[in-house]
Amino acid sequence: MPTITVRVPAKVNVQLVVGGVRPDGYHDLANVFCAVSLYDEVSVTPADALRLTVSGAQAHQVPVDDTNLAARAARLLAARHGLEPRVHLHIAKDIPVAGGMAGGSADGAAALVACDALWGTGTSRQELLGLAADLGSDVPFPLLGGVALGRGRGEVLEPLPAGETLHWVFAMADGGLSTPEVFRACDELRRRGGQGWTVADRPEPEPDPEVLDAVRRGDPVALGALLGEANDLQAAALSLRPALAATLHTGTEAGALGALVSGSGPTCAFLAKDTEAANDIAEALLASGNCQSVRVAHGPVPGAAVIT
Ligand code: C5P
Repeated sequence: MPTITVRVPAKVNVQLVVGGVRPDGYHDLANVFCAVSLYDEVSVTPADALRLTVSGAQAHQVPVDDTNLAARAARLLAARHGLEPRVHLHIAKDIPVAGGMAGGSADGAAALVACDALWGTGTSRQELLGLAADLGSDVPFPLLGGVALGRGRGEVLEPLPAGETLHWVFAMADGGLSTPEVFRACDELRRRGGQGWTVADRPEPEPDPEVLDAVRRGDPVALGALLGEANDLQAAALSLRPALAATLHTGTEAGALGALVSGSGPTCAFLAKDTEAANDIAEALLASGNCQSVRVAHGPVPGAAVIT
């Protein structure tokens, strides 16, 4: 039986500008995604019917029913080509679950690539990106990897030039945060602050040109200085999980050039000068007890790719 394995990276948002609520309930975003070297692997093998298994330390937290984006991706691609999704999907999970690093979305993207290769559907990259967007706002980006600006609800991607490799530390929290809840908390904070936009007058969110320039130059000092204000969901994530403030503080005290909540959280991301500094920050975070676990990674890295 042929097995095809696709490796797919996690992401960190070095910018997440949240605009108003659209008529469809989603928020307009200007989102700068950076793919980082934490990977899931999705393997596909022919089977009698669709089956999904998961391995890894957090496997018990991953749904194995049709809410899993990998299963939905296999069904969607099969339906597009008039096929039955007769496939065993296996996810080797290493990206934090419900951590704001798009692990579930990455699995959806990887399943599209893997099933396309297994079934020989010859689906074009453009069509895969369209199917990915149907699955979720964050699913197209892991197909591209690197660095990209996401507009719309995050799914309309423009690849961005990126300079030197950046070194990151990720501090994982105990238990995830729900993305819809974090967006709702963001709306609530804005309403209370008198900043709520109506559908009619919502301004188009724009990325900070300084963030784009720092990423283009691969300048960790310049980017680090901007991270504290880079994520519009950060205040909302902190309101739901106040303990994250101590985590951000610990990493900054330990020498991080900048820190932010990754996406909708609760993972905190720290930018380091180099690998050595990253290891020092990771050690300090672990010793503080202000997080559940720590990972060192780098980026940008390429997107989903077949490895067997
Ligand atoms: O697109 P996806 O299914 O990943 O989005 C999950 C949830 O996050 C949405 O149902 C919505 O509540 C929120 N979301 C949003 N605006 C976006 C993306 C996601 O409000 N641009």
